[in-house]
Amino acid sequence: MKKQAMNKRYWLKTLLIVMACCYLGKSAIAQTIIIATKSNSLIFKVDRNNHLQQAWFGEKLQSSQAADTSMYKDLPAFNPAFPSGGMGYVFEPAIQVTHADGNPSLDLNYIESSVEKENEDVSITHIQLKDAVYPFYVTLHFKACKNENVVEEWATIRHEEKSPVTLNRYASSFLTLSANNFYLTHFYGDWASEMKYEETKLPEGIYNIQSKLGTRATNYEVPSFMISPDKPADENHGNVFAGSLAWSGNFNLQFENIRSNGHAGNSLKLIPGINAYASAYLLKPKEIFNTPHFIFTWSTTGKGQASRNFHQWALNYGVWNGHQKRQTLLNNWETTFFNFTQDTLVKLFDGAKKIGVDVFLLDDGWFGNKHPRHGDTAGLGDWQANKKILPDGIQYLVKQAAQKDIKFGIWVEPEMVNPKSELYEQHPEWVLKLPNRPVNLSRNQLVLDLTNPKVQDFVFGVLHNLLTENPGIAYIKWDCNRFMTNTYSNYLASNQQALYVDYARGFYNVLERVRKEFPDLEMMLCSGGGGRAEYGALKYFNEFWASDNTDPVERIFIQWGYSYFFPAATVCDHVTNWGNESLKFKIDVAMQGKLGFDININRLTEKEIQFCRSAVDNYKRLQDVLNYGSLYRLIAPYNSSIASLMYVDSSRKKAVVFNYNMNVHHGDTYQNIIFEGLNPDKKYEVKEINLPEETGSAFRQSGKIFDGDFLMKEGLTWYLNGALTSSILEVTEVDK
Ligand code: DGJ
Repeated sequence: MKKQAMNKRYWLKTLLIVMACCYLGKSAIAQTIIIATKSNSLIFKVDRNNHLQQAWFGEKLQSSQAADTSMYKDLPAFNPAFPSGGMGYVFEPAIQVTHADGNPSLDLNYIESSVEKENEDVSITHIQLKDAVYPFYVTLHFKACKNENVVEEWATIRHEEKSPVTLNRYASSFLTLSANNFYLTHFYGDWASEMKYEETKLPEGIYNIQSKLGTRATNYEVPSFMISPDKPADENHGNVFAGSLAWSGNFNLQFENIRSNGHAGNSLKLIPGINAYASAYLLKPKEIFNTPHFIFTWSTTGKGQASRNFHQWALNYGVWNGHQKRQTLLNNWETTFFNFTQDTLVKLFDGAKKIGVDVFLLDDGWFGNKHPRHGDTAGLGDWQANKKILPDGIQYLVKQAAQKDIKFGIWVEPEMVNPKSELYEQHPEWVLKLPNRPVNLSRNQLVLDLTNPKVQDFVFGVLHNLLTENPGIAYIKWDCNRFMTNTYSNYLASNQQALYVDYARGFYNVLERVRKEFPDLEMMLCSGGGGRAEYGALKYFNEFWASDNTDPVERIFIQWGYSYFFPAATVCDHVTNWGNESLKFKIDVAMQGKLGFDININRLTEKEIQFCRSAVDNYKRLQDVLNYGSLYRLIAPYNSSIASLMYVDSSRKKAVVFNYNMNVHHGDTYQNIIFEGLNPDKKYEVKEINLPEETGSAFRQSGKIFDGDFLMKEGLTWYLNGALTSSILEVTEVDK
């Protein structure tokens, strides 16, 4: 019996040793994981310590050696794929946690990887990592969009410890670029001056671009950037990394530029993610924490291609119904502000009809009864039509619009509340507001607490009720006019550090529900101008309001800035009373994006109305190429007083070129307009369009046939004369 027991023990021990050896053997077998798009690849290797390392990122390695593990045996030890804090990695980590027992370290080992093919274009690679000791798991996900050359990366974090683990840092991605210098193109701005940019050589050390604004998170800094390793890239030359974090809350883009003569080499670590500021997140056992997606691309032919990759990705996967035909519209905001009646609105419908737009969009000021919304001081939160202004309700307006053969759209700002409102009187506990501190209003309003599921129900209900009680509403403008300050949630009580993250999630929960119920509704994301220009929210919206600044010269710059990351179909550009430029100049600039008007059409002359009408007709006729064509930025407005850009459709048979003279001076000389994206072997007719009746074509050769090759090499001589003039050229392939 004793011998038998000993034998049993012996065999058990041997089995355990064999299993351990197998396990160690398995972990010692280095693995290579390749994430590839049409032109680029990202390669990971599992090193002999079972840690995941980044082996390659950039232009696709065509050679079969890409998959050969031995090629990476001399991999720098400090190219970790997702470094954790607390152990050997001494630079900024991607993740740092405090375990339930207080241990502040993480040692992530490779477990396994798998690939899920969604379709011919998209495959998702999942790489599972686990702490060597603790039941703590991180899965990295890489969604590769082959034709777009874009990858989306995010991480899933969970654990099975006994009590909550604190997530102190939790990036979405961690990528290494190797070079001696790095040039960062960084986008920033403020209200009415969105999407400026500058290119800076990154200093050694850590450079952060971040937001702590909660709502309106992109008001100052934008979570989209480009990096050119070694030397600055231009539109058509040079290597460019372009990235964007899809998150509608506090973000942090960290760039750690490491100059080390040892293990790290000269490298730049890109660490984009949620800003952990005041947000050490308590993750309960088995709860799943998904980080936001970080979207990135790589171009070896300059910034232009990087932008086109982003545009294609956005239309196919990034925004809601990217290919849905956008509706042109007339907005009443700058015509009436808060001052309108049912009858004045119905009269304005005639203007929309006259210029041929699809939708009349009713802006702020239509709601509130006990506290009417006659200005921005009251009514926000009370989403019932004001009985004095609109005695017959919204449905009457929808019907009147339909009778005039246009559609009706409406403005809401459902995340906000004025203290002077019935909603606030009934639910003072639903706002974000610090105890024991003076209340901090901005535009006289407070932010509703979207961490609270009851508030989420309310906000969803605003949309649900409006759209179901008034069937036929064809357009929503969703505004958000303040960022968070003095923030505290009654609902979260002792868990305030979850506030910023859970707010954004609450916002997405509501949007999920809205989209489930109203998938075909066209929705514009607005935030006091462009305060929410990022892909986290745009997943649920078709388009966004770019800026309250609609002065067309300023718009040339703002729209240029957006064009680096957002396709034209998503950037709402309106013709308004801002600026003294001609109506033609204003319309030409607005036609560059998603066209709308915000002027009182009934005050225009008959000739002006006819001009608007013909421009809208041109826009609709060319909408496919204008909204979905490939963008080529030809002459930037920054270094001279002219600008030029063009869109080319996928067949290369049709293109539209926009040319602008800004504040030009006599004697100035300009470069030729060198076209791009055409077929050099084909011939094209180049014709000026959008000409007011009395004006002849500024382009003397209008209607002439050119070789594609000529247009793309010699191009056209700059032909615009005088300050604040503009011209649109329609380019059509011909068989001659
Ligand atoms: C800010 C937006 O940017 C404007 O277009 C307008 O909708 C106002 N809010 C209304 O309050």
